[in-house]
Amino acid sequence: MNLLQEYEKQQNWRGWERYLQFIPMSQNDSVVDLGCSVGDVSRIFSLRVKDVLGIDINQEFIDFCESNKSSNETFICTDFLNLDSLSVKPINGIWSSYSLSYLRDPLNFLISTHSLMKHGGWIALLDVSCFISGNLEKNSKYYERVRRFELESYKSGIYDFNFGAKIQGLLQSAGFEIVHIDNDVTDPELNFSGAAPKEIIEGWAARLSRMQRLKAELETEYADFCQELLSSLCSDQHEKRGNVRFVVAKKSNKSMQPTAYAAAD
Ligand SMILES: C[S@@+](CC[C@H](N)C(=O)[O-])C[C@H]1O[C@@H](n2cnc3c(N)ncnc32)[C@H](O)[C@@H]1O
Repeated sequence: MNLLQEYEKQQNWRGWERYLQFIPMSQNDSVVDLGCSVGDVSRIFSLRVKDVLGIDINQEFIDFCESNKSSNETFICTDFLNLDSLSVKPINGIWSSYSLSYLRDPLNFLISTHSLMKHGGWIALLDVSCFISGNLEKNSKYYERVRRFELESYKSGIYDFNFGAKIQGLLQSAGFEIVHIDNDVTDPELNFSGAAPKEIIEGWAARLSRMQRLKAELETEYADFCQELLSSLCSDQHEKRGNVRFVVAKKSNKSMQPTAYAAAD
């Protein structure tokens, strides 16, 4: 399974439509989907708003979106850090799922995004929290090492496995006004209770086979760690632990200045 096929399969588990009820969107909105990958969320918005711009850094994903797009969808292959240099229409809405966790300096990006948006515009961010450790049993012999690995990854600016826990504070610090928070979103792959079905386990196995840095960290123990994590996901005792977070915010009509942000980890 290549990455595009893997991401396409994941779409079946995301239940995107359930998030729409919390977003203060309107038919005239111009919406940007940051890190749009295979375009499912862009398509869902395109049925409800004036137009959608999907941005992704992966050319294969953008080619795929281009070949499936509808008349009010545009796709651009670029780093979404370039958003301010793309001469896009005034933005009313921003969606980003599982993508801003890749940013080294998300606060700076959100401050600049805030300045690009229309007053009254919305931003909806969905992301993981304790992505791997939160799905591993706390009494696992790998638990603390995986937590340390996640923290080091964040500190070195590679990927923030705990980005979801920071969304609210980052948005507030960037000047947005919070309108909805869900700190324990159920997702059948990323945050669930009980035993996962076979296709979810296959999805996790595919993800684990891509995680070269964690593999390098755990070295010869990686196969055993993978086995333990997959067994935990198959267990009836598996419990969701706030591993997926969803926050919606607005650019207030009042002028709100960015405030200091202090991340714990
Ligand atoms: C984990 S996937 C999530 C995809 C999709 N939003 C979803 O929820 O299914 C992250 C996506 O963000 C894209 N991405 C990561 N960093 C990016 C950047 N700096 N600029 C543009 N796209 C980026 C990746 O190529 C990938 O398609």
